[in-house]
Amino acid sequence: MTKESGRLALLLSGRGSNLGAFLRAQHSGELEGSVEVVISNRPEAAGLKIAQDAGITTEVVDHTLYASREAFDQVLAQKIDEFKPDVIVLAGFMRILTAGFVDRFRGKLINIHPSLLPKYRGLNTHQRALDAGEREGGATVHFVTADLDEGPGILQTPVSIEDGDTAATLASRVLPFEHRLYPYAANLVLTGQVSLGERSALWHGETLPPGGKLWRPS
Ligand code: GAR
Repeated sequence: MTKESGRLALLLSGRGSNLGAFLRAQHSGELEGSVEVVISNRPEAAGLKIAQDAGITTEVVDHTLYASREAFDQVLAQKIDEFKPDVIVLAGFMRILTAGFVDRFRGKLINIHPSLLPKYRGLNTHQRALDAGEREGGATVHFVTADLDEGPGILQTPVSIEDGDTAATLASRVLPFEHRLYPYAANLVLTGQVSLGERSALWHGETLPPGGKLWRPS
C-alpha cells in the first residue's frame, strides 16, 4: 500500500468472515486502503487468527478485565489511536460503546448490521424478520452514533426471504451480500464520497434516507 492510501482499524468479537472480505478487497485493489490492525475484545475470537495469518497486527482489549464500559472504552480508544486510522470498521464487534467513545471517533466509525435498518435493531434480526412475515431481509452499513443501531445509514442491500427459510438459512444467504457490501461502503467513507452530516449520511453532499442508499451488487 502507498502512504496515501487510507488506514483502517477493524474491530471484531468472533468469526471474522467480514474481515476476510476486507482482506480480499484490499488485495484486489477495490479497497483504497489497508487494514492496519485488528482489535478484539475476546482473546479467543477466530478472526484474530485470520488477521495473524495475513500478517496483520492484532491486539486484544479484553472487556472482562475492566470494571466499567467507560474504562474499557478508554483503553480501546487509546489502542485505536496508536494506529491513526482514517476509518474504524466494526465487523461483528458485539459490545455497546459509550457516547464518549462514539463522539471521539464521530464520522469515522462504521458498523454492519444484519437487517434493513431502521427495521430490527439489536439481536436476532433474521428471526424477527421471519416472525414478522417480511419478504426481504438484508444488511445495512451505517455510521455509529450513541444510540444502538440508530446511526445514519450509508448503504443497504435487500435479500429475498424464501419459503421455508429459517434464521440460519437466511443468515447464510445474507452473509455473502455483507461481504460485498461492507468493503464497498467502507471505501466510500475512506475516499470521502460519503460523510456524516448533522443527522444523516451525505452522499457527495446529498442527504441519504435513514437506512442509506439501496445497493444491489452487480
Ligand atoms: C455479521 O453477520 C454482522 O452483520 C453481525 O455479526 C456478524 C459477524 O460475522 N453484526 C451484528 O450483528 C452487529 N449488531 P463475522 O464475524 O463473520 O464477520
